[in-house]
Amino acid sequence: MHNTKTYVKLQQHYAKQQTKTLKDLFNQEPDRAEKFNLKVNGLNLDYAKNNITSTTVDLLLELAQEVNIVDKIKAMFHGQKLNNTENRAVLHTALRSKAQSIMVDGVNVMQPITAVLERMKNFAHKLHQNIHLGYSGKNITDIVNIGIGGSDLGPNFVCEALKPFRKNNLNVHFISSVDGYHILDCLNSLNHETTLFVIASKTFTTQETITNAHTARNWFLNKTNNNKAAIKNHFIAASTNTQAVKEFGIDPDNMFEFWDFVGGRYSLWSAIGISIILYIGFDNFEQLLSGARDMDQHFLNTTDLTKNMPVILALIGIWYINFYNYSALVISPYNTRLKKFPAYIQQLEMESNGKSLDKYGNSINYKTCPIIWGDSGINGQHAYYQLLHQGTSIYPMDIILALSDKYSNLEHNQILQANAIAQAEAFMVGKTFDQAKAELIQQNYQGQNIDMLAKHKMFNGNRPTNLLTFNEISPNTIGNLVALYEHKTFVQGIIWQINSFDQWGVELGKQLAKTILHDIQQQKASEHDSSTTKIINSCIHNK
Ligand code: F6P
Repeated sequence: MHNTKTYVKLQQHYAKQQTKTLKDLFNQEPDRAEKFNLKVNGLNLDYAKNNITSTTVDLLLELAQEVNIVDKIKAMFHGQKLNNTENRAVLHTALRSKAQSIMVDGVNVMQPITAVLERMKNFAHKLHQNIHLGYSGKNITDIVNIGIGGSDLGPNFVCEALKPFRKNNLNVHFISSVDGYHILDCLNSLNHETTLFVIASKTFTTQETITNAHTARNWFLNKTNNNKAAIKNHFIAASTNTQAVKEFGIDPDNMFEFWDFVGGRYSLWSAIGISIILYIGFDNFEQLLSGARDMDQHFLNTTDLTKNMPVILALIGIWYINFYNYSALVISPYNTRLKKFPAYIQQLEMESNGKSLDKYGNSINYKTCPIIWGDSGINGQHAYYQLLHQGTSIYPMDIILALSDKYSNLEHNQILQANAIAQAEAFMVGKTFDQAKAELIQQNYQGQNIDMLAKHKMFNGNRPTNLLTFNEISPNTIGNLVALYEHKTFVQGIIWQINSFDQWGVELGKQLAKTILHDIQQQKASEHDSSTTKIINSCIHNK
């Protein structure tokens, strides 16, 4: 990336651009709101409050063209093995496609995808019609999703976002941590006769998930006098590992399969979405898929990249990460039901693009994925926004807001909107020393130290935000929104020339945890550094 012609041009452009503030840009171009705005399906991206001009966008688009982004997008959709370290295609888009055929290794993957969708639909129908009952004949009232990472964050976010769409007043619980408190606390609140456990794991080997799954099964068998035959009414699985699911004791009829061309963090559209289907119903899940499909079509077919929303969002990120040297991106959803979106995006972007080698294994000398973090924006205002306004670094932000909400009320919703919009404005315009001082004078401030106080009350501003809005939170808009960020992540990975679809960086900790668990269980520390040995010994002696 560093050696390309466009990169050098962008650096030269940055040298000029960095001296301009957002306020300057708005003064020079009052029509920025129209110019830097995209409407796609139901999503509106206002990216006017960024340190960009049309030249910036043109140069960034040139950078994207230099890496043949349009061909790369097509390659992904057509099943090319872009995940080169695992020799896998990247086909989460096939899970929501209406194509008749997408071929991988001579196999049409659309056939198994459609078949599993149909099986999930039937299972959900039986559960919602109270045909699938608990072993003692009672209706299922609680779904417990046991999974972690991509087998938790997506379904967890979507179920919370779409709670008003839930079927049969079902409750859904998400157990991810291996901290026994997490599952035991949940189990204590449940009736085993009316609970369905979904064991969600792509590999079905993940230590946290398998430990929790065994705990759930033991709890269930304990409650039923070891009635193994009853397991089939209460345990289902979503996995790529049929053998391990069988060995665990789950009836193959209760297993919903997916495939290694679906990455964990891209899997909510697959069988991993079974908890979503059970919670909100298959019709709403179809709407979720349809929203994502609309974004897929837009991404794939909008070859005028100035209008391609995932490409534009990705390029703005590249501009800040690789030229302004900003190291984090804040995701700030204002609607409470979107509270878990930042955690979902954190895995999506950081596990995909947190890499320091290019896809061929060469070290790279430019920055890749920033730290992604955030929480409910309105809560953040009363916690960490202080640093965002007056801290020493600048953190670009995506503010996300559903404009109407029939499950809220007008007064609350207007206050929510006003705050989201006010923050974007405040981050941009700031407050000058003169303004702060004038305010103090107007308030009849009598102290000696008016200048000092005015300095504390001033804001530099010039902090960029994207404002992403849509009419309401629905399965369709959530599908759209998630697919937007998936494709944004893809574009950035292509520009950085990395493999966004492996995650070798999670392996070392898993490996070492096995040795350390063995040490703790055997009460003898094996060979480690003195600090590690010391804490292992503390665990041994404190058990
Ligand atoms: O450890 C990371 C990871 O492999 C993620 O990529 C994945 O989403 C998560 O663990 C869960 O994996 P699994 O679905 O195989 O249990």
